[in-house]
Amino acid sequence: MFTGVILVIAAPNAWTIGPIVGGWIHHYEITRPAYEAKYGLWTKLNIPVKYQIHGIHSTVLVNGDVLIMAGSGNNQAFFNAGTFKTLLLNPVTMKMRLIPTPWDLFCAGHIQLPDGNILIAGGTERYENLDPVYAGGAMTVYNSTMRPLTVPKGTIFIGPRNVEFTSAFGFVVPPATTRQNGNGTTMTVATQQNVWVDAVTKGKKSVVDEPAWYQVIGMPGVQAMGTQMTLSKQNFQGTKDAYIFNVHTLSFQKVNSMNYARWYPTLVEMGNGMVMAVSGLDNVGNVNMQSEWFNPKTDKWSLGPVRGFPTYPALFLTESGELFFTGSNAGYGPATPQWRTPGFWNPYTNVFTPVPGIPDPNILETSASVLLPPAQNQTFMVLGGGGVGQSNLSTARTALIDVNAPDPHWMRGPNLLDPTRYPNAVLLPNGTVLVTGGSLYYRGMHGSDNRDTAIYDVATNSFTRMADSITGRDYHAEALLLPDGQVMTIGGNPLYGNAMDTMPQTFNQEIDVYSPPYLFSKTPRPVIEAAPHVEELGHRYIIYTSPGRKITALYLMHPANVTHVTDVNQRAVAVPFKWIDGNALQISIPKQQNLLPPGWYMLFADVNGIPSDAYWVEIL
Ligand code: CU
Repeated sequence: MFTGVILVIAAPNAWTIGPIVGGWIHHYEITRPAYEAKYGLWTKLNIPVKYQIHGIHSTVLVNGDVLIMAGSGNNQAFFNAGTFKTLLLNPVTMKMRLIPTPWDLFCAGHIQLPDGNILIAGGTERYENLDPVYAGGAMTVYNSTMRPLTVPKGTIFIGPRNVEFTSAFGFVVPPATTRQNGNGTTMTVATQQNVWVDAVTKGKKSVVDEPAWYQVIGMPGVQAMGTQMTLSKQNFQGTKDAYIFNVHTLSFQKVNSMNYARWYPTLVEMGNGMVMAVSGLDNVGNVNMQSEWFNPKTDKWSLGPVRGFPTYPALFLTESGELFFTGSNAGYGPATPQWRTPGFWNPYTNVFTPVPGIPDPNILETSASVLLPPAQNQTFMVLGGGGVGQSNLSTARTALIDVNAPDPHWMRGPNLLDPTRYPNAVLLPNGTVLVTGGSLYYRGMHGSDNRDTAIYDVATNSFTRMADSITGRDYHAEALLLPDGQVMTIGGNPLYGNAMDTMPQTFNQEIDVYSPPYLFSKTPRPVIEAAPHVEELGHRYIIYTSPGRKITALYLMHPANVTHVTDVNQRAVAVPFKWIDGNALQISIPKQQNLLPPGWYMLFADVNGIPSDAYWVEIL
């Protein structure tokens, strides 16, 4: 069980005696053993101010630590000052330390690689500008020479009416390439690179309504083509940077950059251990349609197919090796059905097969998606969500689809307790799903955070209400399964600091832990006493569990890598087993690599809904 926590529930901050008494009665009610055994218990961790952080990205490491990454944490002052934060927290010992963070990983993608290290790709190059005073846009620079072309930051571009723009970043355009023509001649093919440019002069005078050619000062002969230069909202811009968080040295180390910048990308692991990076805003704030592959063996990136998905698309690896897009996403992208309809995507052929028919198809942004346990059933659930952008629409809808069915189709599931954007959905080690938090409106507007907590039972296809959470969690919040069976919740970034929507936004830096009812059962929890730490697909192993306990299920669970309601690598794979004798079981690791991609998993033993602690296993 948890140590070092401070219980703060309904902390009465009132002048009258009434609410204090009420608070204590409430406290008494929800800490009675019978209540906990039925509804579970929320506790708040004691995090000293020095370690408080904007929890944007969270990951459970194989050593049991939780890595909580903020970068600039949606705070432009931190960005300008280069203050990028990461916290490493062990929820059992409550040891914590800040990790030096060399770039702004705010709104990157992250994933556990097969060796247990964490790949973090992309992040923030530049903050959005909602009301720019200098016109700006994208400039594409061409290189038709056989040498790299270096374009420094601050390079001046002169366009129509002699309007001047300056490049916001420095960059290098690679040398041109050559192509053999049919008649034996050789042709030079120019390479290109784009960059964000800002007008040198304020106001409307610098607006350029049409794409146009620009002259590059100091670079005679270099051609540059500008897009429209406008005073409209300028999006966040992504970075190409990629780092690995090394679980042995507990530090970030630089790996090769991506070919393209990404802000809000999804990283999904394939059955062979390759990682695909999809979507995200690029270096000029447009949605990046170019996917790319990361090979963890060589640390190299290579280009994948081109297809438009909204940012943080929920793309799950299916047993067939195709990706299934559930429609969930967070943030940006056109509202067109071509971009947002769920379906199968073959990342090798780029064939997309839509599967329309999900209830409330226009209310999928900020929804959550999970592959329901056991992963073998290949059934996905989509929960809640809101309209595209800052819409007032939200839904309590859940929808289910069995993608292994001969004719996969969407079925309506039971409603959530309330219409909810940003619900956090966490697979539990007894084959159920915890759903907690979120808000009715966009980014918790009008004080609309809910404290709803419920457990979804796959067998009965129903939700059971649990104890309300003690902290509202909306945008930029996460929930993740801890190795001891508890669930940690982090973050929350409402658009306004009060329910009247009159105060500036705040970031919730509290961290809570939820203990599900199974941790209060009178039945003792089973224990995995011993098992091989390295196991291969399709092989059988002997493991040892608590003597005399009749294990009813075993699950290999992928540790959380969660951000922006997105964790596409979360999965609970059932492990078939048979009794040998006493406390020995023979387990059969499934043989399908797309069911169980390589990497570290938490093995849990379950006795009728009461799970063990995790036993870490590396699947090869
Ligand atoms: Cu974000």
